[in-house]
Amino acid sequence: MNSKDLQMARQSLIEELDAINKYQERVDATSNESLKKVLSHNRDEEKEHVAVLMGWIRTNDEVQEKFFHENDMES
Ligand SMILES: [Fe+2]
Repeated sequence: MNSKDLQMARQSLIEELDAINKYQERVDATSNESLKKVLSHNRDEEKEHVAVLMGWIRTNDEVQEKFFHENDMES
C-alpha cells in the first residue's frame, strides 16, 4: 500500500470526525427546530463517511486491522 494513500485516508477521517463535532455543536447551539433537524441529518451522514473511510483503512492497513480485530467490543 502506498503510504501517501493511507495518509490521505487518515486525514480525510480526521476531517469527517471534525465535521461531526462541528455539526453537533450547531445542533446544540440552535433553538430552531427545523435547522436542528437538517444539521442532525447532515451530522449523521458524516458518520457514514467515517465508517466508509475506516473500512477502507482497515482493508489497506493490516496492522490497523489487527488492532481493530483485537479490540472488537462485540466479540
Ligand atoms: Fe463527509
